Amino acid sequence: MTTQAAAPVTPERIFQFAWGYVPPLILEAAIKHRVFDVLDAGPKTIAEMCAATGCSERGLTAIMNALVGLDFLARDEAGKYSLTAESAAFLVSTKPSFQGGLIRHCSEHLIPRWLNLNEVVATGLPVGAVNQETSGSEFFEKFVTDIFPMSYMPATELAAHLDYNGKGQPASVLDLAAGSGVWGIAQAQSSAHVRVTAVDWPGVIPITRNTATRFGLIDRFTFVEGDLLTADFGSGHTVATLGHILHSEGVDRSKALLQKTHGALGPGGTIAIQEFLVNADRRGPVGGLFFAVNMLVNTDVGGTYSFEEISSWLSEAGFVNARLLETHGPSPLILATKA
Ligand SMILES: C[S@@+](CC[C@H](N)C(=O)[O-])C[C@H]1O[C@@H](n2cnc3c(N)ncnc32)[C@H](O)[C@@H]1O
Repeated sequence: MTTQAAAPVTPERIFQFAWGYVPPLILEAAIKHRVFDVLDAGPKTIAEMCAATGCSERGLTAIMNALVGLDFLARDEAGKYSLTAESAAFLVSTKPSFQGGLIRHCSEHLIPRWLNLNEVVATGLPVGAVNQETSGSEFFEKFVTDIFPMSYMPATELAAHLDYNGKGQPASVLDLAAGSGVWGIAQAQSSAHVRVTAVDWPGVIPITRNTATRFGLIDRFTFVEGDLLTADFGSGHTVATLGHILHSEGVDRSKALLQKTHGALGPGGTIAIQEFLVNADRRGPVGGLFFAVNMLVNTDVGGTYSFEEISSWLSEAGFVNARLLETHGPSPLILATKA
């Protein structure tokens, strides 16, 4: 019997991870200095880029070459830079499909907090608690518009799945932790039968209101200002959406929120929860495990949960048939029905 030699252990992954902060920071600098926006008009030399952005040649050359290395830009033999299919689709800020919103906050809002991780791990206490109204409202009023495109596609896919027009009945959508209002807006856009009640903190509701106005949907929106556990949700709603809220609420408040939502839905109503999930054994996926650390840094009690955990809270609250809906979003979408 021959024994196979074990693959040699190398430090390569560690060398790679030492530079893990580089790609988002380079992307952020390029977005801030309008690199992708300027190139959207056509290929440009570095001199043309300097003239259009007002940036230094040394600075632009360094980040644009790195972006070529990362396949976000191309450069031809004549030295002209151009967009790739991916950057043209998702990094041009004037396009509705722009996904740079999350990146835009790296150096100002996200990384400065993460730099305190050593201390946070030692104490178990966050740098700032975005689940508390004062600091959270201030954080989210700047952030929610930037993350609108991230969830617009899955929100549209949810609307298609729920088929409001096919049912031909008035539908009342309760958009909880509405933020920009992306979930309610996509439901209302899909059918004239839909009316939306959007709930969020008083500091954030003006953003929801502005976005609904911008989409020409303000007449079909009602706004409720307040904390999720005390605000009046009304009753008899057809659908309730909870987009990226359970992770900052933690286990106890999430369970209470699901129970309250159950009470606000009519019989047969649907709850739709978008969340970063982890596997039941918490060994992956790594995105869900990372987001739990993000909640450690940014909230008192937040975390990420498995489909099985959220399903059990849904069933405790009186929902049946917890299921996943396939969508093109940053995180899975869980649906369940009020029995
Ligand atoms: C991550 S954002 C998600 C926004 C939107 N649902 C989306 O999917 O893009 C979380 C939202 O929940 C709101 N929020 C967080 N905790 C809240 C609470 N306890 N009461 C009311 N709103 C809250 C924030 O103001 C923010 O608008």
